[in-house]
Amino acid sequence: MRSIVEEKNLINKVILLRLDLNVPLVQGKITDTTRIDKIIPTLNFLIGEKTKIVILSHIGRPKGKIVNELSLMPISEDLQKKLKVNVKLIKKNINEIKNKQFFNDFDEQILILENIRFYAEEEKNDIKFASHIASLGDIYVNDAFSCSHRKHASIHQISKFLPAYSGLQLDLEVNALNKITSEITKPITCIIGGSKISTKINIIENLIPKLNNIIIVGGMANNFIEYFGNNIGNSIKEKNCNQIVEKIISLTKKKNCNLVYPIDVLVSENINGSSKNKELNQIASNEMILDIGPKTVSKITDIIDSSKTILWNGPAGYFENPNFANGSIKIAKKISENNKANKIFSVIGGGDTVSLLNSLNLINNFNFVSTAGGAFLEYLEGEKLPGITALN
Ligand code: 3PG
Repeated sequence: MRSIVEEKNLINKVILLRLDLNVPLVQGKITDTTRIDKIIPTLNFLIGEKTKIVILSHIGRPKGKIVNELSLMPISEDLQKKLKVNVKLIKKNINEIKNKQFFNDFDEQILILENIRFYAEEEKNDIKFASHIASLGDIYVNDAFSCSHRKHASIHQISKFLPAYSGLQLDLEVNALNKITSEITKPITCIIGGSKISTKINIIENLIPKLNNIIIVGGMANNFIEYFGNNIGNSIKEKNCNQIVEKIISLTKKKNCNLVYPIDVLVSENINGSSKNKELNQIASNEMILDIGPKTVSKITDIIDSSKTILWNGPAGYFENPNFANGSIKIAKKISENNKANKIFSVIGGGDTVSLLNSLNLINNFNFVSTAGGAFLEYLEGEKLPGITALN
């Protein structure tokens, strides 16, 4: 993997820069800018080298359709405020942009192409689409570690057509995670939560042999709660997962890894409601699980106290509603407290987890904070990420 900082002749080159600007948006407003702030050094480096920059990024999961709420416009405006050069969002259909000369039409040094996932070809890793995007630049840079686990056209296939480099933030994340995986001390506890269940449930299996404790919270825990014979009402869950849940349970026994899932929960009839604490066998059909309960919190904080390393990805509940933020806040505070007392080494990953820590002003109390969620877990698991393999 070659880093763009090693490249000498960049003046006037058109750089196709893949970023992960998938930041949380509420009614068109960015609620956490961490992923934008982290790539400012890369942009300043490329600006300093007098390149022209074309940013490629996705936001959300529009599934190949134009979804106005998932426009990159708020991100473009935020970048404009943070950089000394002009930034412009290009809404024109990428397939109608004919070649890199299109830059001649603009005075701006940075152009952002509209959400790359508005095109179905992106997630299909379509080679023609990748080759077309590549024709818009001279050099490709991947600075999107957090989506390098996706085999998509602007992450994977594109590097076949241009000299391909890693960006500063990707270098930083990969170096830090390499250091962590080689220096990790036991007992190791991994806490996995969040709502992106499908990506994570299959990863767990490969992580188990490396861990002493695996704690499952958030949406994925609902699959376990239901598997053990409880009604989970309207809670989110991944379909057809009993086999994988069974596999995870038997593997944890075989590998002597302690599997923990919620023993009590907070529920409501809708995500904006107030919370009720329930035992697992008391959940009504019109209720949904939105956080872990106090008994579970206390079990998890005890495990954190007996651990030397904590890896955490994904909140324990729907923390956007303060009535369901307690589990995530208690976990965050406990890890941060033990970290400050030098009792543990802590690594945190994932867009939502980072937003939560920012809102609690705790972001600096962890040894390493990765902007990546799924990619972070896959990297820890030892998987080769398609976006990184493509750079080699
Ligand atoms: C993330 O937020 O983890 C990345 O942007 C990847 O998003 P995805 O899970 O929708 O591919």
